[in-house]
Amino acid sequence: MFDPGTTAACVDDLAAKRLVFVTGKGGTGKSTFTALLGRRAAARGVRTLLVELDSRSTIRKMFSHGAPTKIGYQPVALAPDLFAVDIDSENAVVSYLSEALGSHAIATMVINNRVIRYFYDAVPAGREIVVLSRLYSLVTAGRAGDEREFDLFVVDMPASGHALSLLQLPATAGGAFGVGPVAKRARQMEEAFLDPRRSALAIATIPEEMAVSETVEFHRRFREEGRAPVRAVIVNMLPDPFLDEAAAMLYRQARPAGGQGGVSPAAAAVARACEWDMAKTARKMQHMRALQDALPGVVSLPLVETGEVLEGIEAHLGFLI
Ligand SMILES: Nc1ncnc2c1ncn2[C@@H]1O[C@H](COP(=O)(O)OP(=O)(O)O)[C@@H](O)[C@H]1O
Ligand SMILES: [Mg+2]
Repeated sequence: MFDPGTTAACVDDLAAKRLVFVTGKGGTGKSTFTALLGRRAAARGVRTLLVELDSRSTIRKMFSHGAPTKIGYQPVALAPDLFAVDIDSENAVVSYLSEALGSHAIATMVINNRVIRYFYDAVPAGREIVVLSRLYSLVTAGRAGDEREFDLFVVDMPASGHALSLLQLPATAGGAFGVGPVAKRARQMEEAFLDPRRSALAIATIPEEMAVSETVEFHRRFREEGRAPVRAVIVNMLPDPFLDEAAAMLYRQARPAGGQGGVSPAAAAVARACEWDMAKTARKMQHMRALQDALPGVVSLPLVETGEVLEGIEAHLGFLI
């Protein structure tokens, strides 16, 4: 039921893009998948920047060994060819306004918390626009001197609903401003973020009924309402069955007909555990199959119950680092 080869191919396909957005319901593994993709790409020599939006700093916790103490507004190194940045909206407003005012000195002079708050109040979705502008600058930055810029950007997006409105924002802003520099920038962002040749969206989910129906719904909305290049659906935390297929078959053959009467209490307990596990596995598989029937690009990641999650997933996928 877990096919590491297909999942590994999916990760490598995403690693060949310029910009990958990772979204999904909260707690399904968006940040974990962001880190996994980044580590795989970096291990293959793809210079990768992991992008967090607005100081959630979950990425740093996944790189506790030798990681910097803080991931901030400027990219920091996590590992060879792997970097991270946290685009927080306060810093993004300062840099946006200093660009608009043409002077960082003037900007830092006039910008204080009051100005920033005024900006938020005066501009609808101002916070989001400046965050996206910063992302756009990073993605389109030229290669300065002999310093190599990044090949791949992996963005740890907010949950699906918020992610959808973020991705729709450039089109909305472009329409609202019509002409002028803001409209022009909005259209450039739209092109850079939504072009399926360069960008991809991955949706993380788990094999549970609610999560599956929400994923099908958001998959449609991302494509139709967001015109987003949805490329992968990651079913995370798929448990390894306690009994593999051969063992389950043996168990079924040996299962006492007419209940567990006549077997020892210990044997009955083991039998109950087997029944429970087979039922659970069947349910999870049903959800996984429902998703595969409904959507293209569905792959899975195993539930890791012992040790480090990222390392556990990498071991399953055969990603040796
Ligand atoms: N495959 C997995 N097996 C076990 N635990 C996992 C797996 N994927 C994620 N987790 C754990 O689940 C929690 C939520 O994952 P996270 O990536 O932070 O989700 P999100 O970013 O979508 O909120 C974290 O504690 C993470 O370590
Ligand atoms: Mg997260």
